[in-house]
Amino acid sequence: MTTSIPDRVAVITGAGSGIGRATAVRFAREGARLMIADIDETNLEETRRQVAETGAEVVARTVNVANEQEVADLIDAACQQYGRLDIMCNNAGITGGGYGPVMEDEADTWRRVLDVNLLGAMFGTKYAGRVMREQGAGAIVNTASVAGIRAGAGGNPYSASKAAVINLTQTSACDLGEFGVRVNAVCPGLTETGMTKRVFDYARERGKEDKLGARCELRRYGRPEELAAAILFLASDDASFITGQALAVDGGNTASLNMPGMKV
Ligand SMILES: NC(=O)c1ccc[n+]([C@@H]2O[C@H](COP(=O)([O-])OP(=O)(O)OC[C@H]3O[C@@H](n4cnc5c(N)ncnc54)[C@H](O)[C@@H]3O)[C@@H](O)[C@H]2O)c1
Repeated sequence: MTTSIPDRVAVITGAGSGIGRATAVRFAREGARLMIADIDETNLEETRRQVAETGAEVVARTVNVANEQEVADLIDAACQQYGRLDIMCNNAGITGGGYGPVMEDEADTWRRVLDVNLLGAMFGTKYAGRVMREQGAGAIVNTASVAGIRAGAGGNPYSASKAAVINLTQTSACDLGEFGVRVNAVCPGLTETGMTKRVFDYARERGKEDKLGARCELRRYGRPEELAAAILFLASDDASFITGQALAVDGGNTASLNMPGMKV
């Protein structure tokens, strides 16, 4: 079998569910050796089981990405286990509340969301980047969001955190480029995962599932496997001349202002 990331060592955070789990399983099928991490031990074990079923090497580690030492230890553990680190997926994230207008926003909510979504990605980039700089090679893929590109797809703190992840992607691509390390991001549109379960349940209970994704040009929402495919591409040698980019994987959502009534 030809694989696009043969024997590559990959760390994936937020691997216990949704996009992270789909990425772990896809990477495993493509020949990678994995260190998967999540704050939720039970869900992480289920991902470990699914990955192990493919025959891939996998180690699972419970980690809170908002804790710098835990992320540093995660990267250390991957290097101890496999002797190198080729791919880092900073994927863990939370919506975290803060859905009201900014006039009502609480600093604590912002801090909680930024701690996980932004600092979590920064810690992963910092420690994976150190290893990759020494190796002179590596690929980092951050999971940002369409919410980081335009307003209206999440709470204020979530949107700001994802815009910052896009910028982190650019600044760290600049810091790491000369060492042969690429840094890119995917920006998912609405995708059915643990994070969006409530939205999907709510719509289905009311028979309005078809409305989900209706604002996307493809007129549907995304599947975690479609995000995994984009993450795989950015992590693989097929993307060897791509760095500092944020790829929207959103069914065309951000390509259009999609203003009702403007097209007749
Ligand atoms: N689902 C969508 O529509 C959508 C859209 C845009 C962006 N995203 C982003 O995709 C990424 C993956 O989310 P998902 O949709 O698969 O949701 P998910 O909730 O299914 O998965 C997120 C995972 O991250 C883990 N996690 C949360 N906080 C953590 C922490 N502090 N430390 C370690 N792990 C932690 C959760 O336990 C969970 O397993 C997130 O960064 C999210 O913001 C999702």
